[in-house]
Amino acid sequence: MSVQYRPVTWTRNKLIYDLVLALGISAFVIVFLRYAPGWLESPRISGPQLRMRAFGTCAFILLTIVLAIGPLARLDRRFLPLLYNRRHFGVAIFFVALAHALTVLGWYQAFSPTDRYVALFVASSNIASWHAFPFEYLGMFALAVLFTLAATSHDFWLNFLGAPLWKAIHMSVYAAYAAVIAHVCLGLLQAEHSPWLLGLTAASVLLVCGLHLAAALKENGPAETETVASDDGHWVHAANIHELPDEGGVTVFLPTGEKAALFRYDGKVSALSNACAHQNGPLAEGRIIDGCVTCPWHGYQYRPEDGCSPAPFTEKVATYRLRREGDRLLIDANALPPGTPVPPIVLETGA
Ligand code: HEM
Ligand code: FES
Repeated sequence: MSVQYRPVTWTRNKLIYDLVLALGISAFVIVFLRYAPGWLESPRISGPQLRMRAFGTCAFILLTIVLAIGPLARLDRRFLPLLYNRRHFGVAIFFVALAHALTVLGWYQAFSPTDRYVALFVASSNIASWHAFPFEYLGMFALAVLFTLAATSHDFWLNFLGAPLWKAIHMSVYAAYAAVIAHVCLGLLQAEHSPWLLGLTAASVLLVCGLHLAAALKENGPAETETVASDDGHWVHAANIHELPDEGGVTVFLPTGEKAALFRYDGKVSALSNACAHQNGPLAEGRIIDGCVTCPWHGYQYRPEDGCSPAPFTEKVATYRLRREGDRLLIDANALPPGTPVPPIVLETGA
């Protein structure tokens, strides 16, 4: 366990992240309510219907952004800071989507003699027709998923359910996204045609699918795992030294199917398993803090030279041997037992 581990931490960075998020959401809703009727809406709408669209569109854009953060961070490390607080982002999406659903309820059939909850369920209910499909059900499904994710976002649930189950539950955000896309598309078929909403939906799908595809192609790139003939271990290309970030890590995809985290620190380079001993957090996405590789998820720490947590903690991760050939670093794909010391590669002139 790391010296810095605390179940609930409100760091300065988290507060700034949440403040920017809250200001961004408020600014979007205010600008939408003020300008959308003139710019976007034809025929012009107002009142509760406009508020419903403001919150619905805001939730949709936030969901698109949160799904884009993961692949963006894998494609370019400069997006990593956005990854650290994604859970707060997810909880914010739930509340904005809830505001949308509550506005829908406040407006739907407001003047009908039928109870508005009943009206919502029966308003357009021909499952066999695209034009009368009850798309509200899809919105409700998405909202139920977002609620589950928000309610289980705390570390308590991560510990209670275990990392694999927790992660599997949280992958259902993709089901929620698919339901929201269908909700908007089928809703569009029934309301007046709104070209900007159609464009926004298409742009969102292209962005999310395109980024996931690009990140998958990058991770499965063939050139990086070319095997180097040797009678001593299974040496593969790990990285070019000039490409290594200072005091940061890169992920190396090994032919064994495992991932290693390569870290440059203090003029040296070492390699550890990428899987944190706590809950499999991606160590390569962490940073060097106080000379230790620090997991981005909950801050467990490991010494780069031997994969051991600093005293008094006892966690260990596997280490890997490295070899230098000019600007290239080779890694032995066979992991050493957790906590095995490996002399780091020392770069010249403290580079
Ligand atoms: C993740 C949750 C949700 C998101 C992101 C979302 C998003 C959207 C968006 C972008 C629209 C199009 C706005 C427009 O009509 O121009 C929309 C419409 C609509 N949504 Fe949702 N929605 C969500 C959940 C829900 C839920 C839970 C309900 C029902 C309680 C609901 C009911 C509706 C209705 C009735 C419309 C159509 C409005 C109209 O006829 O103009 N939505 N939603
Ligand atoms: S500290 Fe929790 S997964 Fe690494």
